[in-house]
Amino acid sequence: MNNATGSIAIGCDHAAFGLKETIKKFLQQAGLDVVDVGTDGTASVDYPDFGTRVAKMVASGKVARGILICGTGIGMSMVANRFPGVRAALCSETYSAAMSRRHNNANILAMGARVIGEGLAMEIVRVWLDTPFEGGRHEARVQKIEAAGSLESEMPENSC
Ligand code: RB5
Repeated sequence: MNNATGSIAIGCDHAAFGLKETIKKFLQQAGLDVVDVGTDGTASVDYPDFGTRVAKMVASGKVARGILICGTGIGMSMVANRFPGVRAALCSETYSAAMSRRHNNANILAMGARVIGEGLAMEIVRVWLDTPFEGGRHEARVQKIEAAGSLESEMPENSC
């Protein structure tokens, strides 16, 4: 995993505990510094609590990237994308995972443990960590994502 540098935070809810443990082991074996924010079992928890922990670490620069998994990955990606500077990509296949890095410079990968199997999830993680941001014309577009979050941002004529 040549392009994965720095620490990586990982978090999940009860629906994705098993997958989180598998991914964590894989990352550690690959020599990455992993911060596991939980959850630590299959007892029912609220995904925003764990999504927030990882998103805060990425937004503050404490870790370079994050991985968030819940049943569908939807709730986790919704939570994470509320934090300034976070670009969470919900991926169920490897093409989107690669493009989320190349074009969008995604810094959080979200996945759904009830949507995809473990084998595919591991392949997505591998591709996502290995793929660099292309920069160039995508740099300004990624910056516009941040600007788009403000109510003062430019809106099309006659829109309300
Ligand atoms: C938990 O049942 C489920 O709602 C959660 O894992 C996730 O899919 C939410 O988006």
